Amino acid sequence: MTDCLGDGAGDMTPMDLYEKLTSQGDTVRTLKTEKAAKADIDAAVQLLLKLKVDYKQVTGQDYKTGCPPSECVVSQDNGPAADGEDMVDPWNVSTTNAKGVDYDKLIVRFGSSKIDQELVDRIERVSGQKAHRFLRRGIFFSHRDMHQVLDAYEKNKSFYLYTGRGPSSDALHMGHLIPFIFTKWLQDTFDIPLVIQLTDDEKYLWKDLSLEDCHRYTMENAKDIIACGFDINKTFIFSDLDYMGASPDFYRNVVKVQKHVTFNQVKGIFGFGDSDCIGKIAFPAIQAAPSFSSSFPQIFKGRKDVQCLIPCAIDQDPYFRMTRDVAPRIGYPKPALLHSTFFPALQGAQTKMSASDANSSIFLTDTPKQIKNKVNKHAFSGGKDTVEEHRKYGGNPDVDVSFMYLTFFLEDDEQLEKIRQVRGGGVLPDKCQRTQCTWTGTIDRHGSTFLQYCCQVLGSGVILTAALSYILKCVFIILPSYIALHFNWCFNPNNHTINDYPHS
Ligand code: TYM
Repeated sequence: MTDCLGDGAGDMTPMDLYEKLTSQGDTVRTLKTEKAAKADIDAAVQLLLKLKVDYKQVTGQDYKTGCPPSECVVSQDNGPAADGEDMVDPWNVSTTNAKGVDYDKLIVRFGSSKIDQELVDRIERVSGQKAHRFLRRGIFFSHRDMHQVLDAYEKNKSFYLYTGRGPSSDALHMGHLIPFIFTKWLQDTFDIPLVIQLTDDEKYLWKDLSLEDCHRYTMENAKDIIACGFDINKTFIFSDLDYMGASPDFYRNVVKVQKHVTFNQVKGIFGFGDSDCIGKIAFPAIQAAPSFSSSFPQIFKGRKDVQCLIPCAIDQDPYFRMTRDVAPRIGYPKPALLHSTFFPALQGAQTKMSASDANSSIFLTDTPKQIKNKVNKHAFSGGKDTVEEHRKYGGNPDVDVSFMYLTFFLEDDEQLEKIRQVRGGGVLPDKCQRTQCTWTGTIDRHGSTFLQYCCQVLGSGVILTAALSYILKCVFIILPSYIALHFNWCFNPNNHTINDYPHS
């Protein structure tokens, strides 16, 4: 891959380019009027054409004489919901539909592309791996430029993964795990580097928390993330509060992004108002910076052209719409994205599981007993109002929270289908007790993540397998990760080089 813009055009604003183009047009006209030497005219025309290409790349528009670039050539405001539409932004997710957000409509509104069967098949073909259940079941449903990533990969051009977490509580909840679980699969499948940004600065700016609390949450959340089992030799986890000050290259990219986005644009994208603190207005540039490989010279040895792929839930898309608009203007490739749906709140899919509402969420620090209580007390079942109605019409797995959770975590497609039929049939809860899905996830405070999803219909076989996998995970993944964390290894940018990054 080469830089999108050569000759420093990447550092020019649209207006700089427009003015340069206008003046170059004048030069060509003057040379022609004065019947200058053919070679001089040709050279001037070549430069004019090149500037036109740069202009188009920077603004997305053709150059027109007398028509300067509008201020809003970047980031159209395609996020906020109109009346009656589902609300999806980094801070709020809500819909009136019990089945959840209308993701097809969201794709149209956000201007992303659907992950269709063709793309799932292609990922399988290129990777040589069976598609992850999140792909098979449409849980990762939308993308930007994934075909481009695969085209390049097929030509031996590698890419890197970037994802993150805003540490606002002691522990992650189950919803937060979705992008991390999928990111782990992508890392294993494509054998590529991963950077994980922990935006403790963001949470300080948005929440009523001290800097110390945010930084402490970062360290706690990092344990949950490390316990997902990422490749210890290819993963860099960083706290913004630590890394921003330690990495001049990272900060340079933050400043470049800040220079190329106006207050008007961030107002349009994120809905900031006059009373929002200036830290919030500047923050999107900090979430944008890890999308550029030059922010991590210790990993990519100064290369600025390595393609980035960002797995996240679709609530984070506004940040990356902005990033993708800015990228070519500062000479970097646009990051590609894979978007997931939301892991529903216990109360139902009208909103996502969220750390700010403890009753809506199962945290990784919850004990099995707490989880059981939360599920029994809060989880919407999809059952009918009366015994008669339930017998007659059956349950509705589409709105049954326990069943929805299984669609995220139960690997076996056949088993899932069987449970769907039972949950959707007219069997009363007491009669189908054995088939009722009980799902638990626990992490003890010392960080041993154990995701145990247990479907009682499977009986002790699953529990036994789960116990075995827990022991293996403890020995081979969690323990080494903990030792690494203990020695501050993951967090020290100077210590961390990904040695075998392929320099294709
Ligand atoms: P945060 O901490 O809100 O969420 C972390 C990640 O989890 C996803 N997520 C969910 N996914 C499925 N179901 C849910 N209920 C659910 N709730 C949250 C989020 O989309 C996110 O991927 N500003 C970010 C931190 C960040 C980041 C990034 C995230 C920095 N750089 C790059 C993704 C990619 C934040 O506060 O995420």
